[in-house]
Amino acid sequence: MSPHETLPFRPASRMAEIETFHVVDLVTRAKALEAEGRTIVNMVVGEPDAPAAAPIAEAGIQAIRSGHVHYTPGLGTTALRKEIARWYDTRYGVALARERVGVMPGSSGALIAIMGVLLSPGDEVLMADPSYPCNRHFVRTMEGRAVGIPVGPETQYQLTAALVEKHWGPRTRAVMLASPSNPTGTVIPFEELRAIHAVTRARGGTLIVDEIYHGLTYGAPDRTVLEFADDAFVINSFSKYFGMTGWRLGWLVGPRDAMGDIEKLAQNLFISASDIAQQAAMAAFTPEAIAIHEARRDGFRAQRDFLLPRLRELGFGIPVEPEGAFYIYANCERFTDDSYRFCLDVLDRAGVAIAPGLDFGIHGSAQHVRFSYPKPIPVLAEGVDRLARHLRDR
Ligand SMILES: Cc1ncc(COP(=O)(O)O)c(C=O)c1O
Repeated sequence: MSPHETLPFRPASRMAEIETFHVVDLVTRAKALEAEGRTIVNMVVGEPDAPAAAPIAEAGIQAIRSGHVHYTPGLGTTALRKEIARWYDTRYGVALARERVGVMPGSSGALIAIMGVLLSPGDEVLMADPSYPCNRHFVRTMEGRAVGIPVGPETQYQLTAALVEKHWGPRTRAVMLASPSNPTGTVIPFEELRAIHAVTRARGGTLIVDEIYHGLTYGAPDRTVLEFADDAFVINSFSKYFGMTGWRLGWLVGPRDAMGDIEKLAQNLFISASDIAQQAAMAAFTPEAIAIHEARRDGFRAQRDFLLPRLRELGFGIPVEPEGAFYIYANCERFTDDSYRFCLDVLDRAGVAIAPGLDFGIHGSAQHVRFSYPKPIPVLAEGVDRLARHLRDR
């Protein structure tokens, strides 16, 4: 073989188990259709339509102007960690030491750091199927094994203490929950959360609760696991309620004695989260910014209230009302037994982009699709009209 010949790239064996985000395929296809001059109603991407609130953007610009463009400590600036700790007091009445807060590059960064400090090779993490797809890949990247537990409407698509108990095995190390959940928008009742924590603790495991959609709930006020547990990990983010997806900033709250390891790993993985984003995020907690976030939340609720009954009228099965986040997880078996093909067809022929269940697990995934609804109501109305025509004329 000549020394100049290009050798094929040999990926690590774990890459065979890391799947692409099918949503991304649909987004690419939607963009290609738009480039051909078609208008697409995009209900596929999981982010608010609007950019970060003006006070946050202004603080970001100020940060750049004043030279806040350097590395920060691995767990974030002291000022922002304090501000986040104070948020738990104002929002939930939980007194939290800032030492337990770690600011990370998105909650994605927080999740990878948590899996890194928690998992030895072969350790298992229990999680709901369906759930946020990246979680199983974070686990796999850290040489653990994600165990998806099939859930349905009877448990609001969430794990319960009984399910955790039933699926606990000799290698189970942790339980991962998300409340409200992506893709289903459902919330774990507070007493059930307590029970899941108790079961996990009794078995010597660790509970991780993804609270990224807190602030975006439309019923009772949010309750955090930190109200009663100081041995759980919580992850949260500036992406959703605070509307800062592209700024890539999130945080974790960890058990006090885990924070040294988290810091060590975060320093190595990321050095730090963005200084600019951290300075900007200080403005996210001001009364002016909170008023904007709350008004946006009310807007999301109105969008949900618009879309939900209309999808049901079209024949989608939505047995559990989503109480939070900005997603509707809908059964589409009346129309198809292959939701991925259905999504491609709906995109190509009706110009509506929605996500196939396939992205969120294997349980019932071919019979489900996810609608992401943070869009102006006239856009949602256009999407519903197009779907109605498509389903009628098919
Ligand atoms: C449930 C859930 N967790 C975590 C994330 C990661 O978000 P980020 O890294 O922007 O904080 C997302 C993003 O959509 C999500 O839906």
